Amino acid sequence: MPNVIVVGAQWGDEGKAKVVDLLAEHADVVVRCQGGCNAGHTVKHAGETYKFHLIPSGLLYGNKTCVIGPGTVIDPDVLLGEMADLQKRGISMDGLHISHRAHVTLPFHRELDGAVEQLRQKAENDTGKNACGGQIGTTKKGIGPTYMDKVGRFGVRLVDILEPTEPLSARLQQILDFRGDTMQAQGVTPPSLDDLLAHCQRVAKELKPYITDTTPLLYKVAKQGKQLLFEGAQGTLLDVDHGTYPFVTSSNATAGGACTGSGVGPTKMDHTIGVMKAYTTRVGEGPFPTELTDSVGQHLQTVGAEFGTTTGRTRRCGWFDGVMAHYSVMVNGLDSVALTKLDVLDGLDEIKLCTGYTLPNGDVIEGFPATVRQLASVTPVYDTMPGWPGEKTEGVLTWDGLPTNAKAFVERLEALMQCPVSMVSVGPERTATITRQPLVAGMAVATGEPLQPVTC
Ligand code: GDP
Ligand code: IMO
Ligand code: MG
Repeated sequence: MPNVIVVGAQWGDEGKAKVVDLLAEHADVVVRCQGGCNAGHTVKHAGETYKFHLIPSGLLYGNKTCVIGPGTVIDPDVLLGEMADLQKRGISMDGLHISHRAHVTLPFHRELDGAVEQLRQKAENDTGKNACGGQIGTTKKGIGPTYMDKVGRFGVRLVDILEPTEPLSARLQQILDFRGDTMQAQGVTPPSLDDLLAHCQRVAKELKPYITDTTPLLYKVAKQGKQLLFEGAQGTLLDVDHGTYPFVTSSNATAGGACTGSGVGPTKMDHTIGVMKAYTTRVGEGPFPTELTDSVGQHLQTVGAEFGTTTGRTRRCGWFDGVMAHYSVMVNGLDSVALTKLDVLDGLDEIKLCTGYTLPNGDVIEGFPATVRQLASVTPVYDTMPGWPGEKTEGVLTWDGLPTNAKAFVERLEALMQCPVSMVSVGPERTATITRQPLVAGMAVATGEPLQPVTC
């Protein structure tokens, strides 16, 4: 298999872990590159459900090297809890390697995340204006504050907490000096240096066997021609540079983040797969042009079991957005798309897909809006296609076996996105996948006509 980046191409929860799980069989190393325990990646296999937050889902195979890369942020207690849960289920941690350059989420980062959300909402309520958009609806896992300290250049990395007491203590004093005043202003009581030191030394001891310099490890693996699989977290529209800012996460969730976040250069990347649902979901706040609050939205939410893996929040649901999808193809340089949850559309009489946006004055927008004000003002232009009521995609294992209208829907999406659909997923289980364009000989169920790449 080539070295593959699996990237979320919408607002997260697209089914990345299912696609990673499917490809991991053919990979030697699986790498998480960015984000932290805000991610919730679900794998269903042989009737069992596994939820991953920080650990690459490839660990399920037992014989894989799994790397948590330098671009991630790590809450040690959450990671240790996840490791313990998986170990209880018989999954070995022997293959796990964590970059010593990854930044540490400290307990006050989590508190700050909640406090800043409240302040944003208060500012919104006080002004009554949509100035900065109120709450983001974060996962409250401390992700934003940890990345803020990283970029502020006073963050604490795993390599720092492994240091002897004296240099570590000085590092922690520095972060308290820089952070103390703002923490207090935001309603969070700064911890004492002693408590922070004790916390860091405790978790350092437990994580030490797994912490290493992952850069030479990945370099050697790539040089030996072994296969690397990069497991994206979040999604393109949550990317801090390319997403619906400020309603985004604090890392680069796009394909470029796989390079910067892993320390593996772009020359080693062979194929980028964007994972998209056959409709759209979003957790948290922010504009969502194709959102549905009617019975169809209810169908997508219920049949798709659209609840967040990390927070349990109900995911907002809407029609597939072709404008967003094409933007995602561009910004990630997608080679192909893995289309998930087609089965959730089973039973609908008609299916809409958004082909463009119009502004309040009737003008059609070129490109994807950069301001949430403009994105919130657009009206989606829809194509309406017939559904396949009375037929099912669920349980179908071949392209030819899909209902004719379902195939037409997928082909319409390809034309709209200007990117081929290499995989169609029709259920959460590993086996519920139609592989149209195998990345390796004999991969999964290879059927149907070979894909003709659509030119952009
Ligand atoms: P991720 O964060 O992108 O890995 O996605 P999540 O795990 O947060 O959410 C995707 C959910 O959809 C999980 O519960 C998966 O088991 C489920 N899922 C993935 N692919 C399919 C599919 O094709 N059909 C159905 N019905 N469920 C799917
Ligand atoms: P996976 O990897 C869906 C969303 C949050 C919020 C915004 C910022 O499972 O696809 P943060 O806690 O990161 O500061 O929150 O980003 N968000 C996700 N939404 N899937 C995720 O991860 C997400 N990670 C963060 O809901 O809107
Ligand atoms: Mg998820």
